[in-house]
Amino acid sequence: MYTVNHLGPGHLRRALADDVRAGLTATPKWLPPKWFYDAAGSELFSQITRLPEYYPTRCELAILREHAAEIATIARPETLVELGSGTSEKTVLLLDALTSAGTLKAYSPVDVDAATLEQAAHRVADAYPGLAIWAVCADFERHLARLPRVGRRLVAFLGGTVGNLDHEARAYFLEELRGTLSPGDGLLLGADLVKDTGRLVAAYDDAAGVTAAFNRNVLSVMNRELGADFAPQAFEHVALYDGRLHRIEMRLRASRPMRVVFTELGLTVGFRAGEEMRTEISTKFHRYRLEEELIRAGFTVSRWYTDPARDFALVLALVPEKRRKARALTPGRG
Ligand code: AVJ
Repeated sequence: MYTVNHLGPGHLRRALADDVRAGLTATPKWLPPKWFYDAAGSELFSQITRLPEYYPTRCELAILREHAAEIATIARPETLVELGSGTSEKTVLLLDALTSAGTLKAYSPVDVDAATLEQAAHRVADAYPGLAIWAVCADFERHLARLPRVGRRLVAFLGGTVGNLDHEARAYFLEELRGTLSPGDGLLLGADLVKDTGRLVAAYDDAAGVTAAFNRNVLSVMNRELGADFAPQAFEHVALYDGRLHRIEMRLRASRPMRVVFTELGLTVGFRAGEEMRTEISTKFHRYRLEEELIRAGFTVSRWYTDPARDFALVLALVPEKRRKARALTPGRG
């Protein structure tokens, strides 16, 4: 097993500090969702995936169970790169199919959290002794160009995490990714689909309060990493669906006026009673929109898989083989 860390010592704390300075001094306040996932947050997310209200993980697993073999035959990768791999729980289904298809030589999980990554990589290494494991600690919005490029590749971006990016960031991400891939390489993209608002909101506001704890965990991350003094219980968990932008927004609402001091940043941030800070967007897709975004980025859509209820989609997109030069297509000129 081989691990590369593109984030370097202190990188995460610096990146968090930059995001805090930008996002918590903006109106309205916001933070990118990647800061949820320290060890405690990754564990809470794992619990979310088992909640009765949170359908995406179960749907995606069902789709993978049904179609992983076909995906393996179409994509025939030598290297599986998984972006935002987390605990790599779902990856087993793909790895089983890809190893049976006989093409796979390497698995490269990519995650921002070094501890979660390391653990997952070891588990996969133990379970698949013949497979080379290259664990890459990186931010998939910034380090796409540094991912392993050995043989034909399939990049898996599962769970619906692409929905954390807004329209503009998604277009940029897909184009960047397309630019680092070669003809014949593939992208396996998980995306949550537009559906009844009640079910969408329930998935992000579960009765047991696990998602609320996950949301508040970002406050503990800032307390620990930046010496902030957030009182997590003074913030209410908010999940709402914006039907115009078809996305869930998670927010934390200050239940009283507060001043939060970031000792390590020399920064004090004020909250009014009822003021909300956005901590995540989770975009839900219509098929034609997502296919259009993929095509615009230069992919062709090879397969669109859904569960029977059409709650969730797994899209297999490919980088087309180079087109023949236009000259070769026009009739010869004497
Ligand atoms: C891991 C980004 C796919 O957006 O559904 C779950 C994260 N947030 N519950 C999602 C999440 C609240 C999840 N993704």
